[in-house]
Amino acid sequence: MKKTFIAANWKSNMTNLEVKSWLGGFNVQDLKFIDKKIVICPPFTLLPALNSLIAKNKLPIYLGSQNISPLDEGAYTGEINGKQIKEFAEFVIVGHSERRKNFFESEEMVNLKISQAFKYGLMPIICVSDLEQVKTLQERVRGKFQFNVAYEPLFAIGSGIADTPENANRMAKKIKDILGGIPVLYGGSVTSNNINAFTKMSDINGVLVGKASLDPLEFLQIIKNA
Ligand code: PGA
Repeated sequence: MKKTFIAANWKSNMTNLEVKSWLGGFNVQDLKFIDKKIVICPPFTLLPALNSLIAKNKLPIYLGSQNISPLDEGAYTGEINGKQIKEFAEFVIVGHSERRKNFFESEEMVNLKISQAFKYGLMPIICVSDLEQVKTLQERVRGKFQFNVAYEPLFAIGSGIADTPENANRMAKKIKDILGGIPVLYGGSVTSNNINAFTKMSDINGVLVGKASLDPLEFLQIIKNA
């Protein structure tokens, strides 16, 4: 059985100073005994410091970025490319609905970003909110197995109203049927109170947690309850 996967999406929150107090908010050594796969996806500016802290304390935490340039290194002002991310992280969130909506990311853009993640050996966590997006993905990931999909229904993101575990599980099963057995996470208003209802479902391999991961004690509780 694979480890339950818990990815934290910090979105555009946290400074280096705030990370120190986040880490001071619980005993990081507690994490060493937890048999779950934990991935923190902070803003780019925090990746180097977190990477050092994780190495120094030998914490079983992986890092991911929340975005990736659709292009290689070069004259692309403001972009952070896959090669640069790979210095600090192993995962990358691609196609989050907040990027699709607020930064006008098209399917084509998402496609380029997925290709860049594969090119640089980053494991994409590809976010989808409906089956249309899953079908579009089908072509793009053909023959690839190293990726995760996060099912995140729009109504559930940041609303405090999660999908039902049964519905999320049905969607996870459909996604696996279409894309071929890859791990599927559920995301949208996950908290320590509802996480277990999702992770105990047969086709849900883990969760992508936004807001609740910003509170260190709540995040620790999420990990424990998963
Ligand atoms: P939320 O965000 O947990 O705050 O709903 C989840 C996400 O957007 O990945």
